[in-house]
Amino acid sequence: MERTLSIVKPDGVDKNLIGEIIKRFEGRGLKVIGLKMISMDKKEAEGFYAVHRGKPFFESLIVFMSSGPCVVMVLEGDGAISKARELMGATDPKKAETGTIRQQFASNIERNIVHGSDAPETAAYEIGYFFNSLEIFSA
Ligand code: RTP
Ligand code: MG
Repeated sequence: MERTLSIVKPDGVDKNLIGEIIKRFEGRGLKVIGLKMISMDKKEAEGFYAVHRGKPFFESLIVFMSSGPCVVMVLEGDGAISKARELMGATDPKKAETGTIRQQFASNIERNIVHGSDAPETAAYEIGYFFNSLEIFSA
């Protein structure tokens, strides 16, 4: 069993895709074991995406991620990290496989609808960033 952190980003919430995204994760056998709607300020978004500090897109990414509410969730299941990322598709929607969330719904490489952790260590950090142990409901 593995856990991952996913976010429906502000553009996904704006486009009414919360249910669509959760449906795809659940349909792939991932269990939602933590869920909330939040709105990050710039400091909170910077802390979440700290690994990208210094990159050319960092400032713009922070403005975007703090532009409105997000839905953050903890998903659990076998291979949860790679399953969620498969469903999401590549970062750049133009390169994402047909039928993936980003290919179908994303506007561009930044406004790409959804986030998913990329490794067990980042998943642990990201889950702890938004959820305490009383907010996670493992089977
Ligand atoms: P995420 O962390 O959000 O799941 O996305 P990812 O792993 O597919 O991509 P990553 O390299 O971690 O980038 C994080 C987010 O930064 C924005 N980005 N913009 N303008 C650009 O070239 C660029 N590159 C990345 C995207 O919102 C990306 O999801
Ligand atoms: Mg990433």
